[in-house]
Amino acid sequence: MTVPIPQEHGAVKPAPPVGADAAIADATITPIVGADVVLGLTGRPLPEFPKPGPVKAHGPAYIISMTNQKGGVGKTTTTINLGAALAEAGRKVLMVDMDPQGSLSLGLGVAPDKLEGRKTVYDMLMDSSAVPATDVVMHTSVGGLDLLPANIHLSAAELRLAGEVAREYALDRALATVKPHYDYILIDCQPSLGLLTVNALTSSDGVLIPMECEFFALRGVEMLRETISKVQERLNNRLTIDGVLPTMVDARTLHTRETIQAVLDAFGDSVFHTTISRTVKFPETTKTGISIIEQAPTSTGAVAYRNLAWELVERLEKNGSVAH
Ligand SMILES: Nc1ncnc2c1ncn2[C@@H]1O[C@H](COP(=O)(O)OP(=O)(O)O)[C@@H](O)[C@H]1O
Ligand SMILES: [Mg+2]
Repeated sequence: MTVPIPQEHGAVKPAPPVGADAAIADATITPIVGADVVLGLTGRPLPEFPKPGPVKAHGPAYIISMTNQKGGVGKTTTTINLGAALAEAGRKVLMVDMDPQGSLSLGLGVAPDKLEGRKTVYDMLMDSSAVPATDVVMHTSVGGLDLLPANIHLSAAELRLAGEVAREYALDRALATVKPHYDYILIDCQPSLGLLTVNALTSSDGVLIPMECEFFALRGVEMLRETISKVQERLNNRLTIDGVLPTMVDARTLHTRETIQAVLDAFGDSVFHTTISRTVKFPETTKTGISIIEQAPTSTGAVAYRNLAWELVERLEKNGSVAH
Protein backbone atom coordinates (compact mmCIF):
# COMPACT_ATOMS: atom_id res chain seq x y z
CA MET A 1 0.00 0.00 0.00
CA THR A 2 1.33 3.43 -0.85
CA VAL A 3 0.65 6.05 1.76
CA PRO A 4 0.02 9.55 0.40
CA ILE A 5 1.69 12.61 1.88
CA PRO A 6 -1.24 14.71 3.11
CA GLN A 7 0.69 17.95 3.58
CA GLU A 8 1.68 17.95 -0.06
CA HIS A 9 -1.95 18.14 -1.29
CA GLY A 10 -2.59 21.24 -3.30
CA ALA A 11 1.03 22.27 -3.00
CA VAL A 12 2.34 24.78 -5.47
CA LYS A 13 5.36 23.16 -7.06
CA PRO A 14 8.47 25.09 -5.98
CA ALA A 15 10.51 26.72 -8.74
CA PRO A 16 13.28 24.36 -9.79
CA PRO A 17 16.51 25.30 -8.04
CA VAL A 18 19.54 26.20 -10.10
CA GLY A 19 23.29 25.56 -9.81
CA ALA A 20 24.58 24.26 -6.53
CA ASP A 21 21.10 24.51 -5.01
CA ALA A 22 19.85 22.02 -7.57
CA ALA A 23 22.29 19.37 -6.41
CA ILE A 24 21.34 19.92 -2.78
CA ALA A 25 17.63 19.90 -3.54
CA ASP A 26 17.85 16.76 -5.65
CA ALA A 27 19.57 15.02 -2.83
CA THR A 28 17.03 16.01 -0.25
CA ILE A 29 13.48 16.75 -1.34
CA THR A 30 12.36 13.52 -2.95
CA PRO A 31 10.37 11.41 -0.52
CA ILE A 32 11.91 7.96 -0.45
CA VAL A 33 9.34 5.64 -1.98
CA GLY A 34 9.97 2.00 -1.13
CA ALA A 35 7.96 -1.02 -2.21
CA ASP A 36 5.06 -0.13 0.05
CA VAL A 37 5.96 2.88 2.17
CA VAL A 38 6.50 6.57 1.71
CA LEU A 39 8.82 8.27 4.15
CA GLY A 40 7.65 11.68 5.26
CA LEU A 41 9.81 14.76 5.66
CA THR A 42 10.71 13.54 9.13
CA GLY A 43 12.25 10.43 7.54
CA ARG A 44 9.77 7.98 9.04
CA PRO A 45 7.07 5.94 7.27
CA LEU A 46 4.16 8.32 6.93
CA PRO A 47 0.89 7.10 8.38
CA GLU A 48 -2.41 8.31 7.00
CA PHE A 49 -4.54 10.01 9.62
CA PRO A 50 -8.27 9.47 9.22
CA LYS A 51 -10.75 12.32 9.50
CA PRO A 52 -11.90 12.26 13.13
CA GLY A 53 -15.37 10.88 13.66
CA PRO A 54 -17.99 12.85 15.59
CA VAL A 55 -17.80 13.05 19.39
CA LYS A 56 -20.62 11.54 21.42
CA ALA A 57 -20.65 14.37 23.94
CA HIS A 58 -18.55 17.48 24.52
CA GLY A 59 -15.98 17.94 27.27
CA PRO A 60 -14.20 17.87 29.57
CA ALA A 61 -11.44 19.64 27.69
CA TYR A 62 -7.92 18.41 27.12
CA ILE A 63 -5.70 21.48 27.59
CA ILE A 64 -2.64 22.12 25.41
CA SER A 65 -0.07 24.93 25.74
CA MET A 66 1.73 26.13 22.60
CA THR A 67 5.12 26.81 24.10
CA ASN A 68 8.54 27.89 22.91
CA GLN A 69 10.35 30.82 24.47
CA LYS A 70 11.61 31.77 21.03
CA GLY A 71 9.41 34.31 19.25
CA GLY A 72 8.28 33.94 15.65
CA VAL A 73 8.25 30.14 15.57
CA GLY A 74 4.52 29.74 14.84
CA LYS A 75 2.87 29.44 18.28
CA THR A 76 0.08 31.89 17.49
CA THR A 77 -0.37 30.66 13.91
CA THR A 78 -0.61 27.09 15.23
CA THR A 79 -3.15 28.04 17.92
CA ILE A 80 -5.43 29.75 15.37
CA ASN A 81 -5.22 27.15 12.63
CA LEU A 82 -5.14 24.03 14.80
CA GLY A 83 -8.13 25.50 16.65
CA ALA A 84 -10.01 26.10 13.39
CA ALA A 85 -9.14 22.62 12.11
CA LEU A 86 -10.31 20.94 15.33
CA ALA A 87 -13.55 22.97 15.19
CA GLU A 88 -14.00 21.89 11.57
CA ALA A 89 -13.71 18.29 12.83
CA GLY A 90 -16.64 18.92 15.19
CA ARG A 91 -14.62 19.54 18.37
CA LYS A 92 -15.53 22.45 20.63
CA VAL A 93 -12.42 24.56 21.08
CA LEU A 94 -11.48 27.44 23.36
CA MET A 95 -8.33 29.42 22.59
CA VAL A 96 -6.63 31.38 25.37
CA ASP A 97 -4.44 34.41 24.68
CA MET A 98 -1.67 34.33 27.30
CA ASP A 99 0.58 36.79 25.45
CA PRO A 100 0.34 40.48 26.45
CA GLN A 101 1.08 41.28 22.78
CA GLY A 102 -2.44 40.02 22.10
CA SER A 103 -1.40 38.48 18.75
CA LEU A 104 -3.89 35.64 19.05
CA SER A 105 -6.74 38.07 19.65
CA LEU A 106 -5.52 40.30 16.81
CA GLY A 107 -5.08 37.30 14.52
CA LEU A 108 -8.76 36.48 15.11
CA GLY A 109 -9.85 40.00 14.28
CA VAL A 110 -10.13 41.24 17.87
CA ALA A 111 -8.20 44.52 17.76
CA PRO A 112 -7.31 46.22 21.07
CA ASP A 113 -10.11 48.81 20.65
CA LYS A 114 -12.67 45.99 20.51
CA LEU A 115 -11.60 45.04 24.03
CA GLU A 116 -12.22 48.46 25.56
CA GLY A 117 -14.71 48.13 28.39
CA ARG A 118 -14.60 44.33 28.11
CA LYS A 119 -13.16 41.87 30.60
CA THR A 120 -10.02 40.12 29.40
CA VAL A 121 -7.72 37.30 30.50
CA TYR A 122 -6.00 39.81 32.79
CA ASP A 123 -9.17 40.41 34.86
CA MET A 124 -9.88 36.68 34.96
CA LEU A 125 -6.37 35.86 36.23
CA MET A 126 -6.51 38.55 38.90
CA ASP A 127 -9.80 37.33 40.38
CA SER A 128 -11.61 34.46 38.72
CA SER A 129 -14.42 34.49 41.31
CA ALA A 130 -15.33 38.09 40.39
CA VAL A 131 -14.56 37.63 36.68
CA PRO A 132 -15.25 34.02 35.63
CA ALA A 133 -13.96 32.82 32.26
CA THR A 134 -17.57 32.75 31.00
CA ASP A 135 -17.63 36.58 31.29
CA VAL A 136 -14.50 36.83 29.13
CA VAL A 137 -15.34 34.33 26.36
CA MET A 138 -15.85 35.73 22.86
CA HIS A 139 -17.21 33.73 19.92
CA THR A 140 -15.23 33.77 16.69
CA SER A 141 -16.57 33.62 13.12
CA VAL A 142 -16.21 29.83 13.28
CA GLY A 143 -18.91 27.80 15.07
CA GLY A 144 -17.49 25.92 18.06
CA LEU A 145 -14.34 28.07 18.20
CA ASP A 146 -14.19 30.54 21.10
CA LEU A 147 -11.55 32.90 22.47
CA LEU A 148 -10.44 34.28 25.80
CA PRO A 149 -8.87 37.55 24.57
CA ALA A 150 -6.00 39.55 26.01
CA ASN A 151 -4.29 42.85 25.44
CA ILE A 152 -1.31 44.74 26.80
CA HIS A 153 -2.85 44.90 30.32
CA LEU A 154 -1.83 41.28 30.68
CA SER A 155 1.79 42.40 31.04
CA ALA A 156 0.90 43.69 34.53
CA ALA A 157 -0.39 40.24 35.55
CA GLU A 158 3.08 38.76 35.88
CA LEU A 159 4.12 41.36 38.45
CA ARG A 160 0.83 41.41 40.29
CA LEU A 161 0.59 37.61 40.50
CA ALA A 162 4.16 37.35 41.80
CA GLY A 163 3.07 38.31 45.33
CA GLU A 164 -0.01 36.05 45.44
CA VAL A 165 -0.49 32.71 47.15
CA ALA A 166 -0.59 29.84 44.63
CA ARG A 167 0.39 32.29 41.91
CA GLU A 168 1.12 29.47 39.44
CA TYR A 169 -2.48 28.20 39.62
CA ALA A 170 -4.37 31.36 38.63
CA LEU A 171 -5.12 30.14 35.09
CA ASP A 172 -5.87 26.60 36.27
CA ARG A 173 -8.49 27.96 38.68
CA ALA A 174 -9.98 30.22 36.03
CA LEU A 175 -10.30 27.47 33.39
CA ALA A 176 -11.99 25.02 35.77
CA THR A 177 -15.43 26.52 35.10
CA VAL A 178 -15.19 26.35 31.29
CA LYS A 179 -13.31 23.06 31.01
CA PRO A 180 -16.50 20.92 31.05
CA HIS A 181 -17.90 22.72 27.98
CA TYR A 182 -15.04 22.24 25.51
CA ASP A 183 -13.17 19.32 23.95
CA TYR A 184 -9.87 21.18 23.57
CA ILE A 185 -8.45 24.32 25.16
CA LEU A 186 -5.43 25.73 23.31
CA ILE A 187 -3.25 28.23 25.16
CA ASP A 188 -1.10 30.59 23.12
CA CYS A 189 1.94 31.36 25.30
CA GLN A 190 4.18 34.39 25.13
CA PRO A 191 7.80 33.97 24.04
CA SER A 192 9.19 33.59 27.56
CA LEU A 193 9.27 31.02 30.34
CA GLY A 194 8.01 33.48 32.95
CA LEU A 195 5.05 33.23 35.30
CA LEU A 196 2.38 33.51 32.58
CA THR A 197 3.87 30.53 30.74
CA VAL A 198 4.26 28.61 34.01
CA ASN A 199 0.55 29.29 34.65
CA ALA A 200 -0.25 27.91 31.19
CA LEU A 201 1.82 24.76 31.80
CA THR A 202 0.33 24.26 35.26
CA SER A 203 -3.19 24.26 33.83
CA SER A 204 -2.34 22.01 30.86
CA ASP A 205 -2.46 18.32 30.10
CA GLY A 206 0.09 18.64 27.32
CA VAL A 207 2.58 20.89 25.58
CA LEU A 208 2.88 21.39 21.83
CA ILE A 209 6.26 22.84 20.85
CA PRO A 210 6.33 24.56 17.46
CA MET A 211 9.92 24.61 16.25
CA GLU A 212 11.10 26.75 13.38
CA CYS A 213 13.34 24.74 11.06
CA GLU A 214 16.16 27.27 11.01
CA PHE A 215 19.68 27.54 12.35
CA PHE A 216 19.70 27.57 16.15
CA ALA A 217 16.19 26.04 16.31
CA LEU A 218 17.32 23.85 19.18
CA ARG A 219 18.96 26.66 21.06
CA GLY A 220 17.17 27.16 24.34
CA VAL A 221 15.41 23.80 24.09
CA GLU A 222 17.19 22.55 27.21
CA MET A 223 15.80 25.48 29.18
CA LEU A 224 12.33 24.74 27.87
CA ARG A 225 12.67 21.08 28.84
CA GLU A 226 13.88 22.03 32.31
CA THR A 227 10.89 24.30 32.80
CA ILE A 228 8.53 21.54 31.66
CA SER A 229 10.23 19.05 34.05
CA LYS A 230 10.05 21.46 36.97
CA VAL A 231 6.35 22.08 36.34
CA GLN A 232 5.83 18.31 36.11
CA GLU A 233 7.65 17.70 39.40
CA ARG A 234 6.37 20.61 41.45
CA LEU A 235 3.06 21.81 40.08
CA ASN A 236 1.36 19.49 37.61
CA ASN A 237 2.35 15.85 37.28
CA ARG A 238 -0.10 15.13 34.45
CA LEU A 239 1.80 17.42 32.03
CA THR A 240 3.25 15.63 28.99
CA ILE A 241 4.85 16.69 25.72
CA ASP A 242 2.11 16.07 23.16
CA GLY A 243 4.40 16.78 20.27
CA VAL A 244 7.02 18.86 18.55
CA LEU A 245 5.87 20.53 15.34
CA PRO A 246 8.44 21.46 12.68
CA THR A 247 7.35 24.81 11.23
CA MET A 248 8.61 27.15 8.45
CA VAL A 249 9.79 24.05 6.61
CA ASP A 250 11.41 24.54 3.23
CA ALA A 251 11.67 21.04 1.83
CA ARG A 252 14.02 22.21 -0.93
CA THR A 253 16.92 22.83 1.40
CA LEU A 254 19.37 20.41 2.89
CA HIS A 255 19.41 22.70 5.88
CA THR A 256 15.75 22.04 6.69
CA ARG A 257 16.35 18.29 6.46
CA GLU A 258 19.30 18.56 8.82
CA THR A 259 17.32 20.64 11.28
CA ILE A 260 14.41 18.18 11.24
CA GLN A 261 16.90 15.36 11.86
CA ALA A 262 18.37 17.27 14.83
CA VAL A 263 14.85 17.83 16.22
CA LEU A 264 14.14 14.09 15.78
CA ASP A 265 17.38 13.19 17.57
CA ALA A 266 16.38 15.45 20.45
CA PHE A 267 12.68 14.53 20.74
CA GLY A 268 12.27 11.13 19.04
CA ASP A 269 8.76 10.00 18.25
CA SER A 270 7.13 12.95 19.93
CA VAL A 271 7.92 14.87 16.72
CA PHE A 272 4.73 15.03 14.66
CA HIS A 273 4.72 13.43 11.23
CA THR A 274 2.96 16.55 10.02
CA THR A 275 5.23 19.47 9.18
CA ILE A 276 4.23 23.04 8.30
CA SER A 277 5.81 24.55 5.18
CA ARG A 278 6.93 28.12 4.95
CA THR A 279 4.35 30.04 2.91
CA VAL A 280 3.43 33.69 2.54
CA LYS A 281 -0.23 32.71 3.00
CA PHE A 282 0.25 32.78 6.80
CA PRO A 283 1.40 36.40 7.11
CA GLU A 284 -1.41 37.30 4.68
CA THR A 285 -4.17 35.60 6.70
CA THR A 286 -2.86 37.09 9.96
CA LYS A 287 -3.82 40.49 8.58
CA THR A 288 -7.35 39.42 7.70
CA GLY A 289 -8.20 38.12 11.16
CA ILE A 290 -9.40 34.67 10.10
CA SER A 291 -7.72 31.29 9.91
CA ILE A 292 -6.20 29.88 6.75
CA ILE A 293 -8.67 26.99 7.15
CA GLU A 294 -11.51 29.44 6.40
CA GLN A 295 -9.71 31.73 4.00
CA ALA A 296 -7.99 29.19 1.77
CA PRO A 297 -9.32 25.77 2.81
CA THR A 298 -7.46 23.83 0.12
CA SER A 299 -4.12 25.66 0.40
CA THR A 300 -1.00 23.80 1.48
CA GLY A 301 -1.09 25.54 4.86
CA ALA A 302 -4.73 24.66 5.54
CA VAL A 303 -4.17 21.05 4.50
CA ALA A 304 -1.12 20.85 6.80
CA TYR A 305 -2.95 22.20 9.85
CA ARG A 306 -5.97 19.98 9.14
CA ASN A 307 -3.57 17.04 9.01
CA LEU A 308 -1.99 18.16 12.29
CA ALA A 309 -5.44 18.24 13.91
CA TRP A 310 -6.18 14.72 12.64
CA GLU A 311 -2.78 13.47 13.81
CA LEU A 312 -3.28 15.03 17.23
CA VAL A 313 -6.77 13.57 17.59
CA GLU A 314 -5.40 10.17 16.57
CA ARG A 315 -2.62 10.49 19.20
CA LEU A 316 -4.81 11.71 22.01
CA GLU A 317 -8.23 10.20 21.47
CA LYS A 318 -6.89 6.76 20.50
CA ASN A 319 -4.58 6.45 23.52
CA GLY A 320 -7.34 7.47 25.88
CA SER A 321 -5.79 10.82 26.92
CA VAL A 322 -9.00 12.41 25.72
CA ALA A 323 -12.18 10.65 26.71
CA HIS A 324 -14.71 11.02 23.88
N1 LIG B 1 4.53 28.34 8.11
C1 LIG B 1 4.74 29.66 7.99
N2 LIG B 1 5.27 30.18 6.87
C2 LIG B 1 5.49 31.50 6.74
N3 LIG B 1 5.23 32.41 7.70
C3 LIG B 1 4.71 31.95 8.85
C4 LIG B 1 4.44 30.56 9.07
N4 LIG B 1 3.92 30.41 10.32
C5 LIG B 1 3.87 31.64 10.85
N5 LIG B 1 4.33 32.56 9.98
C6 LIG B 1 4.46 34.01 10.16
O1 LIG B 1 5.59 34.23 11.01
C7 LIG B 1 5.32 35.24 11.97
C8 LIG B 1 5.46 34.68 13.37
O2 LIG B 1 4.50 33.64 13.57
P1 LIG B 1 3.71 33.50 14.94
O3 LIG B 1 2.73 32.41 14.79
O4 LIG B 1 3.18 34.85 15.35
O5 LIG B 1 4.90 33.07 15.90
P2 LIG B 1 4.99 33.13 17.51
O6 LIG B 1 3.60 33.15 18.04
O7 LIG B 1 5.77 31.91 17.89
O8 LIG B 1 5.75 34.39 17.84
C9 LIG B 1 3.91 35.74 11.66
O9 LIG B 1 4.00 36.88 10.84
C10 LIG B 1 3.27 34.61 10.90
O10 LIG B 1 2.28 35.05 10.01
MG1 LIG C 1 2.71 34.54 19.34
